[in-house]
Amino acid sequence: MQCATCTGPVNIAVVKYWGKRNEKLILPLNSSVSVTLHQNELRSKTTIAASPNFTKDQIWLNGVEEDINNSRLQAVISAVKRRARKRKSDGETNTRLKWKLHIVSENNFPTAAGLASSAAGYGCLVYTLAKLLNVKGELSDIARQGSGSACRSIHGGFVTWDKGTNEDGSDSKARQIAPHTHWPEMSVLILVVSDQTKHTSSTAGMQTTVETSELLKHRLSGLPNKENQITEAIINKDFKTFAEITMKESNQLHAVCLDTYPPISYMTDTSHQIIRLVHQYNNIIEDVKVSYTFDAGPNACLFMLDSEVSRFYSLVKHFFLPDNGHSTVQGLPITEQTLHTDEIQKFKLSKQNGSVKYVIHTKPGPGPQVIEDPSESLVDDMGWPKLMSEKT
Ligand code: DP6
Repeated sequence: MQCATCTGPVNIAVVKYWGKRNEKLILPLNSSVSVTLHQNELRSKTTIAASPNFTKDQIWLNGVEEDINNSRLQAVISAVKRRARKRKSDGETNTRLKWKLHIVSENNFPTAAGLASSAAGYGCLVYTLAKLLNVKGELSDIARQGSGSACRSIHGGFVTWDKGTNEDGSDSKARQIAPHTHWPEMSVLILVVSDQTKHTSSTAGMQTTVETSELLKHRLSGLPNKENQITEAIINKDFKTFAEITMKESNQLHAVCLDTYPPISYMTDTSHQIIRLVHQYNNIIEDVKVSYTFDAGPNACLFMLDSEVSRFYSLVKHFFLPDNGHSTVQGLPITEQTLHTDEIQKFKLSKQNGSVKYVIHTKPGPGPQVIEDPSESLVDDMGWPKLMSEKT
C-alpha cells in the first residue's frame, strides 16, 4: 500500500468569482483575488491510500462515505491520473496508477460554520493525489474542476485566479501575488453567525445570476479595474485601498444576487448589523481600519491589521457575542479591552447578544503542506478510515 497525507487551506475572495462561462470545465466569467487563511486555524486534511488489495475507489468526508462517482470528483481524479501518465513516470508510479484508491478527508472546522469547505477540500485532495502519484507542477487548473474557488487554495498568501480565454481552460489558473509573509500585520476575524436557514449553493446561485441578472453585465465590465487596483494595494500594503475595494466588492456581489430572479439573499439581519458596526467604527476614527466580506452565507470575514483586533473584537463581543461567560474566540488569542460607556454610545447599534456564535481569529497562511508523520495519517495499516476502524 502507498499513502500520502496533506493539509490544505481555506481561501476568502476579496474580488469574488460569480458566474461561469463553461459549467463543465468550471471556467469563470471574471478573474478573482483571494487571501489564503492559515491552516493552524482552518484546514482540510486528506489521506489517500492506493493498494492492489482495494476492490473499488471509495471516499469518506468527515467520517461519512460519499459517492465517488460524483462528476466533479471523477474529473479531478482522472485529470491527476492523466498528468501522471503523461509524465515519463517511473515504473513504480505506473503500477500505483492501476491500484484502487481510498480517499479520506476531514476538516478541522464545522461544515455548519459555512466556510469555504469545498475550496479547501478539493484543493487538498488534488494536492494529495498529485503527491501520491508523483505529479509535479501546475495543479490549480485541476483543482478548479472540483470547485472553482478551490484553484486559489493551491497557493498560500495573496492569490489571483486568471479567468483565461482558452476554450479548453488551459489558461484558467491561479497564481500567487505575494506570499503570506509579505503582510504579516494582517489579521482575519471570522464572525460565525447563528443561522438555521438553508442557502442556495454557490453553483446554483451563480448559474441563475448569469441567466437573469442585468446588473451582472455592469459588474463584469468594472471588475478588471478593481482586480488591478487591489493587486497593487496588496503589493504596496495599502490597507485603506485593499479594505475599500473588499467591502465594495462584497456589497456588489450581494447586490447582483438580489438582482437575480428569483432573488438570492445570503446575508441576514446580523450580517447587516456587522456591516453597520464596521462602517461606524471607521467613521468614528475617520479612517478605514476594518473591512468585511461575505460569501454565499451570512458569516462575516473581517480583515484588519493586528493593531485593531483587540478593540474591534471587544465591540463585537459587546454587541453580538453570547453573554454566557463561555469562550467566544477560537484560534489565535485576543486580549479583550474594557470599553467605556461614552465610547459605546457613539455606536448607533442595539445589542443582540448571541446573534454571532463565536469568532475565529486567524491570519493569512501558506499553501497546502505534505504531512510526513505516519501517525497523522487518516487511514489504518489496511488503508481503512481510522475513525471507522475505531468505531467497529
Ligand atoms: C461566493 O467555488 O463554491 O465564494 O465553482 O460552482 O463550485 P463552484 O462554486 P464555488 O463559488 C465560490 C463563490 C464565492 C466567491 C469566491 O470564492 O470567489
